[in-house]
Amino acid sequence: SRVVKLAVIPGDGIGPEVIAEAEKVLDAATAASGVQFAKTRLSLGADRFLATGDVLTDEDLQTIAAQDAILLGAVGGVPNDPRLKNANIERGLLLGLRFALDHCVNLRPSKLFPSVPGPLASPGEVDFVVVREGTEGAYVGNGGVLRPGTPHEIANELSVNTAYGAERVVRYAFDLAQKRRHKLTLVHKTNVLVNAGGLWSRIVGEVAGEYPDVATDYMHIDAAMIHMVDSPSRFDVIVTDNLFGDILTDLAGAITGGIGLAASGNLNPAGEFPSMFEPVHGSAPDIAGRQKADPTAAIGSVALMLDHLGLTAESERVTQAIEADIAERTGAPRTTAEIGTAIASRISA
Ligand code: NAD
Ligand code: IPM
Ligand code: MN
Repeated sequence: SRVVKLAVIPGDGIGPEVIAEAEKVLDAATAASGVQFAKTRLSLGADRFLATGDVLTDEDLQTIAAQDAILLGAVGGVPNDPRLKNANIERGLLLGLRFALDHCVNLRPSKLFPSVPGPLASPGEVDFVVVREGTEGAYVGNGGVLRPGTPHEIANELSVNTAYGAERVVRYAFDLAQKRRHKLTLVHKTNVLVNAGGLWSRIVGEVAGEYPDVATDYMHIDAAMIHMVDSPSRFDVIVTDNLFGDILTDLAGAITGGIGLAASGNLNPAGEFPSMFEPVHGSAPDIAGRQKADPTAAIGSVALMLDHLGLTAESERVTQAIEADIAERTGAPRTTAEIGTAIASRISA
């Protein structure tokens, strides 16, 4: 029978709480399938840094790179904790993995279920996917500080955009649009960021020629924020750079039932390295350790992982269980474990 090697990185804060539920559901979904998940657990994150001083060692990276997939909860401590100032867990660990494992596509679907209370009065049908570039842009860490601490300090972050990097995610987004509602929206800020914007626009225009059945349009990031709130049903597939995609997907989560539902995959479509699946949210120190976190985003990330691994039926089972659970939510508070158990038992039933 098939064995899938899985790295499990619960991380910090609510990470371990939501990952425990994600594993429950993964076990339920694969129990009868003949696929075995051989798990390697790594305790990485702020807690590990505080205990050992390590963020991501070469050995960690080697272990992780040798797996078939990665399931991650969330990493990071309380924002601006002085003890973590030099650790930079987010850059060193999360971006460290995304970059080292060439996770060029950060896939972030958003779907609004009819029964889910959200902040929009009449949202209509909301079902779109953001294809966020994952290895470039302002995230590359290219920049520096001149005259630090002085009134003349200059702090630079250079946004790196390569034709290679943009083209591969644009192609991924077109392929995805072809399997969905045949619509692709490029979101950028071409009126101001003329260099990077010019590159992205040109590549979308060129690749569009190969996908005559996909309609493309363009929206500036600021206008996209308006339309995501006033007419989100207009979106099908959105392709955008790393930073715009980060911001846009928190709003996307907020309008579709909250960040507790938003799942994501960091994909290496070429399959050279394991892809990594994680909720969009962070470690939520404000609610950590109290069984208050919604594990649905982590469980949805399991569904994305199963689909990526070609375990389509198992993925579908998880998605259906999530949707059934969501449809019956009454608003009465449940613990993290209660939600996980409810979803898992729908699969086992
Ligand atoms: P956050 O996403 O952790 O929390 C934002 C808000 O959403 C908080 O009020 C939190 O309670 C709530 N929330 C988040 N997940 C929830 C869930 N599953 N159920 C219910 N409510 C939930 O963002 P933040 O507070 O800006 O960041 C906290 C830490 O997490 C920081 O160190 C940050 O860098 C890190 N972070 C990590 C990741 C990741 O590991 N992928 C992503 C984002 C932020
Ligand atoms: C996310 C997070 C990360 C990002 C941070 C923690 C590095 O916000 O996964 O959305 O900006 O990509
Ligand atoms: Mn984010």
